[in-house]
Amino acid sequence: MPGAPELLELAGESSGIHLVGGAVRDLLLGRTPRELDVLVEEQGGSFGDRTAQLARSLAAQLHASAQPNEHERFGTAIVRWEGGRIDIATARRERYPLAGELPKVGPARIAEDLERRDFTINAIALALAGPDRGKLLTARGTEELEDLRNGLLRVLHDASFIDDPTRLLRLARYSARLGFQVEQSTSKLAERAIGEHRLSTVSGARIGAELRLAINEAGAVQSVAQLQGMHLLSDIHPRLRLDERLFSDALELLPTAAGRPEMLLLACLVLPLTVDASSDPGWEARTLLDRLEFAGSERDLVIAAALSPATLAERLTATGRASVLRRGLYRAPLEGVALAGALAGEQGMESARRWLDELRHIRLLITGDDLLAHGIPSGPDIGRRLEVTLDMRLDGELPDEREAQLQAALRA
Ligand code: CTP
Repeated sequence: MPGAPELLELAGESSGIHLVGGAVRDLLLGRTPRELDVLVEEQGGSFGDRTAQLARSLAAQLHASAQPNEHERFGTAIVRWEGGRIDIATARRERYPLAGELPKVGPARIAEDLERRDFTINAIALALAGPDRGKLLTARGTEELEDLRNGLLRVLHDASFIDDPTRLLRLARYSARLGFQVEQSTSKLAERAIGEHRLSTVSGARIGAELRLAINEAGAVQSVAQLQGMHLLSDIHPRLRLDERLFSDALELLPTAAGRPEMLLLACLVLPLTVDASSDPGWEARTLLDRLEFAGSERDLVIAAALSPATLAERLTATGRASVLRRGLYRAPLEGVALAGALAGEQGMESARRWLDELRHIRLLITGDDLLAHGIPSGPDIGRRLEVTLDMRLDGELPDEREAQLQAALRA
């Protein structure tokens, strides 16, 4: 793992420095951890001092271009460098003054910190240094390791989903990703929290962060299907809906390298919010994505994709020349064309595929500079001539030859 040798060297002989959470879980499952989470026990100093120190030394060792991003109140720090990211946190206890809100924190032993976590499989620590180096630590003896072996998702205490309802979304994500079962009493607690709409106590930003993780999973559809099955999608917005068939048809059309499957998935989810005859059919989806604090560029891409079926359906089904198809589609995002194609029946799908796989790559062998060099004055007429020429090329009226294209553009 990038950063691991430097981390081990810095930890040296000092005790109370552990690897925790997903990294330990994944190592024990024989999977490659996505990133490293380190837990540091404070030993007499002020809360967070040891964490800050370790983070700064690690950043220096890894030649990070920026100082670690430190969060004093929570005693946490993030070290980012070219090769990756390591999160360091001070072992802490938490108190939730209000359900769903961020907790009040104070110093704690490693084992105590493990007890406040989401699921037993994420509550295993591995000592990186000191006399216990290489040993596993849990708060409950062997239960955590047994759950990992038996593929069970179990909360550590009954109020877990009430304190932090985003854990409901995490539950769906882990069960889809790892194929683990939800342990019986955890399942009852989750059902109760969902029935009480506990998710509504959480900020849009935190729900958005979890939804973003779900749509970026390798098995994103399974994750989102799980959210839907647990009635969590409808808790985020009553009209969010996953049509698995539609998504898989659209995904099949989406170009692998250039398209963004996670944005396509989100566009599928918000599609039902856009079938509204109002003057601004994107309004409801935009309001939702803003509440969930998606970046403006992602929000705009998703909305444009979700609105594409309405505007592109006719263009995709009208049998026409390649140039007509181009004029209809070139402004739409790839995700929008894929979605519209998947909704437009056999012929629409064919047109979308033709555009996405073939026509959109066709380029002229001349540019505006060639026309300027031949005496065409600069201005919008240059663009018009190039477009007419490109249309001729797409319709097979011009060969893939520079001179022929130049002559056509000068005549246009
Ligand atoms: N955690 C928690 N409650 C949350 C979020 C996180 O208890 N709502 C704890 C869990 O112990 C989790 C750790 O913080 O393992 C780190 O969280 P995160 O980085 O989100 O997850 P990973 O453990 O890295 O797991 P993955 O990213 O693979 O889902």
